[in-house]
Order: sequence, then C-alpha cells, then structure tokens
Amino acid sequence: MKKLNFNDIQALPRLERMHLINSLGGIKSANLIGTMDAVGNENLAIFNSVIHLGSNPPMLNFMMRPHTVERHTYENIKDTLFFTVNHVHEDWVDSAHQTSAKYEREESEFDKVGLTAEYRDNFSVPLVKESLVKMVCSFVNDYPIKEQNCHLIVGQIEALYYHEDIQHDDGFLDLTKAKTAGIIGLDGYVKTNSLKRYDYARPNEKPSLK
Ligand SMILES: Cc1cc2nc3c(=O)[nH]c(=O)nc-3n(C[C@H](O)[C@H](O)[C@H](O)COP(=O)(O)O)c2cc1C
Repeated sequence: MKKLNFNDIQALPRLERMHLINSLGGIKSANLIGTMDAVGNENLAIFNSVIHLGSNPPMLNFMMRPHTVERHTYENIKDTLFFTVNHVHEDWVDSAHQTSAKYEREESEFDKVGLTAEYRDNFSVPLVKESLVKMVCSFVNDYPIKEQNCHLIVGQIEALYYHEDIQHDDGFLDLTKAKTAGIIGLDGYVKTNSLKRYDYARPNEKPSLK
C-alpha cells in the first residue's frame, strides 16, 4: 500500500494534490444550490459539501469556498436569505457539472445548461424542476473557517419536496431509487446501489437488518 506523509503531500504538483485530497472525504452528495439575486437574476451551482446538521429543527450546512472572487451563490444568499438544494439525478450529471463554470451574474445557469427553474409556494428562489428531491432553505448562519478562509453556511429547511414512492414507512428516503448521483472529488460522478439497512445499533448486540 502506498504511503504519503504530510510533506510528501505538500510536495505533490498542485493539481495532483488537489485531485488526491479532494477524493479523501469519500463519496459525496451531488446537489445544485439555486438562488436569486436582489434584482431577479437566477443562479444555479453544483456543491458536493451539503450535509445534514440536525433534524429538530431540520437544518443542513454546506461549505463555501473563499470569497476572494465573485461567488454568486454566497452573495445571493447573504442578500436574499434564501436558497434551494436540489438532488442531482444520474441522467443529467453533465448539466449539473456544467453549472460549475464561471457564468456572468446576469446569465442564468438554468438556461445555459438546460435545466428548468421552478417556483413553488410563493418562495422567490428557484428549485430545479427535474430534481426528484429538493428543498427551500432559509439562511441561518455563516461561520468563517479561518484555517482555509472558507465559510460554513447553515440553513433551515422551510419546505421539502420529494416523490413519495422513494420513501419507506419509517421516513427514510431511498436515494438509490431516486437515482441521486454521488461525486468523487470534483469531477467523478457515480451511481449508487442499495446494500443494507440496519436497526439502531446497541452495544453487545449483533447488527440486525431492517
Ligand atoms: C463537483 C463539484 C463540487 C463543488 N462543490 C463546491 C462546494 O462544496 N463549495 C463551493 O464553494 N464550491 C463548490 N464547487 C464549485 C462551484 O460549483 C463553482 O465555484 C461555481 O462556479 C459557483 O458558482 P456561483 O459563483 O454561481 O455560485 C464545486 C464544483 C464541482 C464541479
């Protein structure tokens, strides 16, 4: 097995180090974050850092890169206090990936990549019509992470939309049925297969299947 210590990693060429380290956190969720600026320009961008924070109240968070260049998603969220999170379906990962290109503020990534903006329940932020799992979130907090000059954005789930046929009786959403894509690093998209579901684990008991 290959071994790299800190100094070996630091000595790697920049792009090789980036691809290597970006793969280490494991297979990530593929989400599109939808926003609108104060004058009505829609924005859509792919993020692989969305994770749930807690269920009561329902909240999630995601990581925003350093604000050293224009970051439309970040600026729009700070201006309008709302955003949407939309699961990427494996059939349209090419469109989802293309949203990471640096489009102008006035250009809508929805139009550029061929996805459809959808507005529900009087929220003024765009959802992705093609997504089978999607939500509207309100901005809760912005935590600067000084070690990497990033921002951890916390949002509260205000409305959730999903196809009922992917839900189990206990609430669990089977995202393999929704064909939600996963991401390795920043450019490797994967399909998912269901392995097993387990009951709540207790010390000294064998894991039991649901
Ligand atoms: C697979 C993938 C995952 C990404 N994940 C993130 C992320 O978690 N946080 C982030 O700030 N940028 C992430 N990006 C980069 C943004 O998608 C990119 O900066 C985009 O241009 C932002 O658009 P905006 O300026 O319209 O917000 C990711 C890009 C790719 C290709």
